[in-house]
Amino acid sequence: MEPSTENTEEASAFAEAVESSKFKTIGDIAFYRRQKKLLPGNSPYRALLDTLELSDCRAKLQLLNEENKVPLFVEVFVLKDHMIRIKVNELKPMKPRYEVPDVIINEPVTQRLTLVSKDGLSVTLTTVDGGTQILIIAKPFRMDVRDQGEMSVSVNSLGLLYFEHLRKKSQFEVRNTRGSKRKRDTETEKESEEDLGLWKEQFNEFIDIKTNGPTSIGLDFSLYGFEHVYGIPEHTENLRLKTTSQEEPYRLYNLDVFACKLYSRMSVYGSVPLLLAHKPKQTMGIFWLNASETLVDISMNTESKAALGKTKKLKTDDDPLPRTDVRWMSESGIIDAYVLMGPSAFDVFNQYSKLTGPQALPPLFALGHHQCRYSYKDENDVKQVDAGFDIHDIPYDIIWLDIDHTEGKRYFTWDKTKFPFPREMQEHLRAKDRKLVVISDPHIKVDKKYPFYSEAKSKNYFVRDKDGEEYQGSCWPGMSAYLDFTNPVVRNWYANKHGLDQYEDSTDILFVWNDMNEPTVFDGPELTMHKHAVHAGGWEHRDVHNLYGFYQQWATAEGLIRRSGGIERPFVLTRSFFAGSQRYGAVWTGDNVAEWSYLKISIPMLLNLSITGISFCGADVGGFVQSPEPELLVRWYQAGAYQPFFRNHSHTETKRREPWLFGEENTRIIRETIRERYALLPFWYTLFYMAHTKAEPVIRPLWVEFPEEANTFAVDDEYMIGEALLVHPVTEAGVREVNMFLPGTGELWYHLRTLQRFDGEQTLPVPVSLDSVPVYQRGGTIIPRKTRVRRSTKDMETISYALYIALNSENSATGKLFIDDGHSFNYRSKNQFLLRRFSFKDNTFSAVCADERGQYCTDCLVERVLVMGAARPSCVTAHCPDGPKSPIHFTYDVKKSLLNIESLRFNAGCDWMLKLHY
Ligand code: NOJ
Repeated sequence: MEPSTENTEEASAFAEAVESSKFKTIGDIAFYRRQKKLLPGNSPYRALLDTLELSDCRAKLQLLNEENKVPLFVEVFVLKDHMIRIKVNELKPMKPRYEVPDVIINEPVTQRLTLVSKDGLSVTLTTVDGGTQILIIAKPFRMDVRDQGEMSVSVNSLGLLYFEHLRKKSQFEVRNTRGSKRKRDTETEKESEEDLGLWKEQFNEFIDIKTNGPTSIGLDFSLYGFEHVYGIPEHTENLRLKTTSQEEPYRLYNLDVFACKLYSRMSVYGSVPLLLAHKPKQTMGIFWLNASETLVDISMNTESKAALGKTKKLKTDDDPLPRTDVRWMSESGIIDAYVLMGPSAFDVFNQYSKLTGPQALPPLFALGHHQCRYSYKDENDVKQVDAGFDIHDIPYDIIWLDIDHTEGKRYFTWDKTKFPFPREMQEHLRAKDRKLVVISDPHIKVDKKYPFYSEAKSKNYFVRDKDGEEYQGSCWPGMSAYLDFTNPVVRNWYANKHGLDQYEDSTDILFVWNDMNEPTVFDGPELTMHKHAVHAGGWEHRDVHNLYGFYQQWATAEGLIRRSGGIERPFVLTRSFFAGSQRYGAVWTGDNVAEWSYLKISIPMLLNLSITGISFCGADVGGFVQSPEPELLVRWYQAGAYQPFFRNHSHTETKRREPWLFGEENTRIIRETIRERYALLPFWYTLFYMAHTKAEPVIRPLWVEFPEEANTFAVDDEYMIGEALLVHPVTEAGVREVNMFLPGTGELWYHLRTLQRFDGEQTLPVPVSLDSVPVYQRGGTIIPRKTRVRRSTKDMETISYALYIALNSENSATGKLFIDDGHSFNYRSKNQFLLRRFSFKDNTFSAVCADERGQYCTDCLVERVLVMGAARPSCVTAHCPDGPKSPIHFTYDVKKSLLNIESLRFNAGCDWMLKLHY
């Protein structure tokens, strides 16, 4: 929801007003109040060890709540790839409880557990190889997981397992919470029932009717040795998660929070319930697969080593070990948690991607520069903005149309007054090798004359309200109905609507932006859908809320793939997301503000998305709300150019923001910044291929690359792009010097522009001017770049490569380059790709094939090789397999220890070598 003001103060005041009145604070959430009544150390659950069943795939046993006598069952699966899954459900629920479908891509392969010992108090299970041991203690129920002999995680060790069984209202006992033994009069009981929101909960004027009564669930995990935890986006918070003991928990409930408050744990647009924990020798993850409203409490504690059963009598044995306790609480569904045991961060990324799928490989153009505004006025405006980029020699790939391009916010239509010739406009862009993105929201205008609405209505494709009528709420078009994307039939229908024969005046250069898909309902509770609305299969919106945007993006991506007969890769941007959304496209951080603090927060926000699977992410460059001062805009371009999704976007009532409107000098700097992005595209594209195939996040917190160096663990004003670039965006006004932390004992770093070399493990005062950002290449890496920049990615297809080799202290370096056609699935369906490996060792550079499956013909040459940190050779020779060695020309800069070899003509797909002779 947006204010109609351009004025900073008013906008901030508006934002605050929106925050405070429209959205819940933690005290407003009834299931949280209920769960918090259960205090640590009071678990009513006993494991019935005699019910233990072991099968090939799992261990299963019953749990009894000794107070209300309701039995649950817990299943423990040890999965291949070093993961453990724990499921808890009612033994005999009155009806099925919601289990999240569609997020896990493959049922993971399980390992057999065998019994080691069993007595009346506990059982011990082990995997066949003995690597994982599970101790289940009966009373109170607790489960300890030992990995390679080390205690790594305990479940319910604080006794916070919480499970509200399904019940009939009449059977409900008000006095269901522990410890409330005193007698109460009827009056008080009634009040208390209401206060606990068991069957009904009120927030502002909204009443949530809970037909199923209380259904909330919760569980705690203790992570031994860990004091740094990350993830569970999306929050406007630091990278490292904070303890919540004295403060509000992290909330995961997708909401449209305009100009969201910073440093808050309340929800914004998307959620990924994956938490990562890191310590010097291990990274772990907990993936809590639940799509209902979820709250996460974090506390840091200590544990004596003796209590962990360490037997060796070392002096340090009495030192307490740090321990992080994580308590997950969800409003409905079942407990379904995956513990990802690592041990490295990259193992955790890989484990998570095995479960929820890989980052989609974006078409190359999507990694270029995007130009967006809410909204361009008309076709002429679009053409003029497009021309402006050429006039000012600034590359860009895609121009975006916001809601006003449609006829009265009826998606899949065009406002023919403003856009009389949309097809011709697209052909105009195509002729310049550019693309168009249009917005398509999930709310559908209630208008019987709008065929899209009437067809969906006649087919019963909309979400229903609790009384079985079409659920309606207000959004951009006025009264709207909401497509039920949780229904596969609806997704199929919606996907087909993207067909070139169905979407009038669309062409194959049109791509899609799914916005407002939390979903936003202007007149709904917290600006979203009532939780008691009903989806396919009779599930309440409460159960599926956080999945709604995920499903829309999936259907859209599917539609774009289908329209090309399965050949072309889609591009879809979504605002709302869930675990697994990485499979369908990009995510952005929503309505930020043109203030320095929002630029700064974009870094940790994007890092937390990246390490939870969503590599293709970005924040609106310049800030969506309000008009940035030129310095802020320039700095934001400089930051955005080093972030994965790079789009300038602005609110309808801000000043126009094309990059040439801020004076010649600022235009020049922005131009150089964007050109630098384009020069580095081979590097970005290769990183996306690695994210796609190996689950390596494209941008990474420093601790991921320097896992043993504790001084990196909390850094979130700097980050790595791949393993090679270290970036420290300038996020404050008037900065002339940046304290640049160069991590890594024994590492070498080379300034990206000056190529000057520095030692790692130091904080360097780096002078900066408005046109410089501290970016360093890590010694030991090779970065592929394009030698020249043109107006779009397509235009640069045939431009040759330059390889920037930064030597480490052992005078070696490695790198990769991925090449394909940049847009189709042929890289995987026909192996039409090349993956090249570059290495420099023993004064020899070599380019070889890194994946024999790949077959792709490229005309592109490698034209230049630059070696940073090399001694001056007496001669350099080039070798092709079977070819003669030929001495080649080079230049050498003594001051910079820089060897520069130009005018090479090696095909980028061929094997070749360079030898430096001394
Ligand atoms: C809200 C989105 O966050 C914003 O980017 C968009 O411009 C407006 N909706 C209008 O569609």
